[in-house]
Amino acid sequence: MLRRTHHRFFRKKLLHRITTQRRNFSEDVKESPKVVFSGIQPTGIPHLGNYLGAIKQWVDLQKEENEIYFSIVDLHALTIPHEEKICEKVLSMVATLLACGIDPKRSIVFKQSEIKEHVMLSWLLSCIVQQNTLKNMIQWKEKSKSTRNAANLGLFTYPVLQCADILLYKATHVPVGNDQTQHLELCQDIARKFNNRFGTFFPEPVTLIDENCTKILSLRDPFSKMSKSQGHELSRINLDDSDDQIWNKIKKAVTDNTSAVTYDPIRRPGVANLIQIHSSMTDLTVNEICSRSEEEGLDTGQYKMAVAEAVIDHIRPIRAEYEKLVGDREHLETVLSEGTTKAKETAQKNWNELRSMVGLT
Ligand code: TYM
Repeated sequence: MLRRTHHRFFRKKLLHRITTQRRNFSEDVKESPKVVFSGIQPTGIPHLGNYLGAIKQWVDLQKEENEIYFSIVDLHALTIPHEEKICEKVLSMVATLLACGIDPKRSIVFKQSEIKEHVMLSWLLSCIVQQNTLKNMIQWKEKSKSTRNAANLGLFTYPVLQCADILLYKATHVPVGNDQTQHLELCQDIARKFNNRFGTFFPEPVTLIDENCTKILSLRDPFSKMSKSQGHELSRINLDDSDDQIWNKIKKAVTDNTSAVTYDPIRRPGVANLIQIHSSMTDLTVNEICSRSEEEGLDTGQYKMAVAEAVIDHIRPIRAEYEKLVGDREHLETVLSEGTTKAKETAQKNWNELRSMVGLT
């Protein structure tokens, strides 16, 4: 049974807080409207890390006059085995994105595997990047280690396909969580190398990271990130979790033996993670949360109730909207096919120019 708290002061409206990292960006591109690109794997209902690290930023970026592409990257999902058909998961991802506030009139939502130019460009880029660069990618090293060097080739070349996704649309800005930083640096590097060799074509895309939710941590192990593929069910909050599930997961979140609510990501990562989640779901700053908790005399156990309440209040309308949308298969398929048609137009135009630049036509 869900226990409700009286800590209403924790509730405020959302605040838009985005950090822009700009790197070697030509003046022309800075002044023109942004071309935003991002992707998400259809590997189940997104968790709070996906939402706070990426999707929430995507929704905010729709408020500006941007050209926006969000790809459901089913080819990337092939790098791991799936019990359910990936295409079914693609449709439920469309429902989730719409429920979170992605508006198909403002953003182009599409399925990666419908546009073969992603793979064509990925091959072209793989002829530019050195294998040593890929061997040094952190995610590859982790995957190779955890599979005892038996990781598949798709996982090795995965970052190149990701670069192709972005560059195919000549994206200027890529909103992601900070686990993608290295992939984005590779993308900037490949764009630069291509431009130097074949003539300027690609912008070097800027990575957009929300400074307040760079990395949401596992609720069971605050030394690793919240993730779909790893960890216990209790380690992550999914966007379709019930109120009771959310409450239970936050109540059981691993913290430490200190009872005061203080923000210290190095020594107290579990508590800092809860504060970060709480801050992202309200417009309270970390300092406000800590000083108000002190004023109220809350210990971490009591504070968890305030966090759970903020998360429940934020997720409840998303879950309700998701449940409404997910049954309307026809609508979801229409959104996806209209998005795919629009994305294909840009992809084919850019690929045709690229083919000519590299001497294929
Ligand atoms: P994926 O599907 O693993 O995650 C989607 C987005 O969620 C962010 N994210 C997090 N942010 C904060 N804390 C966490 N614990 C957390 N977990 C996930 C990710 O940073 C990501 O932004 N390779 C990508 C998909 C991709 C892509 C692209 C992204 C393919 N092509 C082109 C951007 C541009 C991935 O696997 O994301």
